[in-house]
Amino acid sequence: MEHTKPSYYITTPIYYVNAKPHLGTAYCTILADVQARFRRACGCDVKFLTGMDEHGEKVAEAAEKNGFDSPQAWCDSMEPAFADLWRTLEISNDDFIRTTQPRHIAGVQKFLQVLLDRGYIYKGAYDGWYCRPDETYFTDTQVRHHEEDRRAAGEEPADPEHPLCPDCDRPLERIKEESWFFKLSEFQQPLLDFYEAHPDFIQPETRRNEVLSFVKGGLKDLSISRSTFDWGVPFPFDEKHVAYVWVDALINYITALGYGSDDESEFHRRWPAQVHVVGKDIIRFHCVIWPALLMAAGLPLPERVFVHGFLTVRNEETGKIEKMSKSRGNAIAPEEVIDLLGVEAYRYYFMTDVAHGTDAPISWGRMRQVYNADLANSWGNLVSRTLNMSVKYFDGCAPVRPADFDAPSPVRDACAGVFERYAAAMEQMDYGAAAGEVFAIVSAANHYIEDSAPWALAKDPEKADELARVIWSLIEVIRIAAELYEPFMPCISAEVRRRLSLSTEPSTDLAAACVWGGLAGGEPVEKGDPLFPRLVD
Ligand code: ME8
Ligand code: MG
Repeated sequence: MEHTKPSYYITTPIYYVNAKPHLGTAYCTILADVQARFRRACGCDVKFLTGMDEHGEKVAEAAEKNGFDSPQAWCDSMEPAFADLWRTLEISNDDFIRTTQPRHIAGVQKFLQVLLDRGYIYKGAYDGWYCRPDETYFTDTQVRHHEEDRRAAGEEPADPEHPLCPDCDRPLERIKEESWFFKLSEFQQPLLDFYEAHPDFIQPETRRNEVLSFVKGGLKDLSISRSTFDWGVPFPFDEKHVAYVWVDALINYITALGYGSDDESEFHRRWPAQVHVVGKDIIRFHCVIWPALLMAAGLPLPERVFVHGFLTVRNEETGKIEKMSKSRGNAIAPEEVIDLLGVEAYRYYFMTDVAHGTDAPISWGRMRQVYNADLANSWGNLVSRTLNMSVKYFDGCAPVRPADFDAPSPVRDACAGVFERYAAAMEQMDYGAAAGEVFAIVSAANHYIEDSAPWALAKDPEKADELARVIWSLIEVIRIAAELYEPFMPCISAEVRRRLSLSTEPSTDLAAACVWGGLAGGEPVEKGDPLFPRLVD
């Protein structure tokens, strides 16, 4: 098969299956989905990957707690919780990887063998701290510093047998076991050189600085195997050991492309990834350990890691702001938001109003506000008013494109350059700014209705041409806005195109689709029900 379109490979984290996905999990997945849809609209051959991280102690423990015979049975039972939610939320992933799939296991084993052959792993003994909820190792020094910080902040001393995790403040466990180690310490300078040569590798900038200072502080070799339980990928050359769940998980980004299979052609065509979208909790794994593992295996590094913040909730007991998480049990189910807003507005709200770089509290009030202001009163209202007038004044059709369609007008001028401004923001994953560009043309059109008063023009037969030009221009804005809103609200955009008698398929040449004058007109239009009925309190 020939591949003429450029490949765009985008991934989400693969989520642990210890509990059902929640608003935070969905947030990251939608973030990646919007980008995937945007890139498809720009003509890329997109591969959008998500999946499930099924190994590790935490998952094995959840299986047992829930009374399942095997961790595998538990994982299988969790698959619909993820797959169904992604379907509901219109996630357009092209693949769904599970780390228990043979394709993945084979790739992990090949990768470990490559590390061994290239001299980057060795056998030793691990004696240190482990955070099971995060599946992360910590040294004595890290743990001591954290305890000192806590005491300095006036907090209760932690149980010395189970000091608290420096990342998430949950109790740690001491582990002592024989282990394989990865020579992470050898990659400090190569990583620093790489960050320097690729200033856009980690975004946003604040996260990049965080990683730089972490790596400058020195890197220790990493324990990459466990031998006290067996729910993992066995080492091909030492069967007592299973791969550390994070090493196993990271490799999914290449096993999903066929790395380690008989046919590595997709891997060669698509790797390195254009972007890994991840939350800030797993930044070190993606910006330090994964790049070092790839260097050790002699493979190219991803082009970009985009790091988003957390959705937070207030703990009613302690008053503290916490990360919403599966293991903390403070999660809000996406269904609650869908019930209030519907899927389209849900996507729109979280993608455009919640800043992607920083943490953000859930605000039901703000959700309603954004829904009413941006969607009900602006976008939805523009579509209703315009199509209503078109049906009424043009016998159920859109006016035919007038000869002077490209003459300056407030709406035509507002649309000039909108694609370029929008695309620049989308490329930076600044979805608030991108949607703001669309909102600007929608607002310009709503003002244009007021200023040109089509209902008055309709009363004057001499103004028939002007009326046609106004209504055609308004529909043209609607057509362009529907194209640009598609990554955020795919169903609504398809519905708008349907009402305009246009193809309901999203564009694959968005730049061309946004050129003023694309609407020929003359076809039936349908007023339809309000796209976003106003929410009343
Ligand atoms: O870490 N707000 O899986 P995980 C925003 N299996 N995003 C959130 C969030 C919140 N409150 N809570 C979770 C793992 N997320 C590993 C990943 S990848 C090779 C292996 C999102 O189920 C966010 O993107 O704990 C975070 O990084 C991810 O879910 C962690 O999911
Ligand atoms: Mg987690």
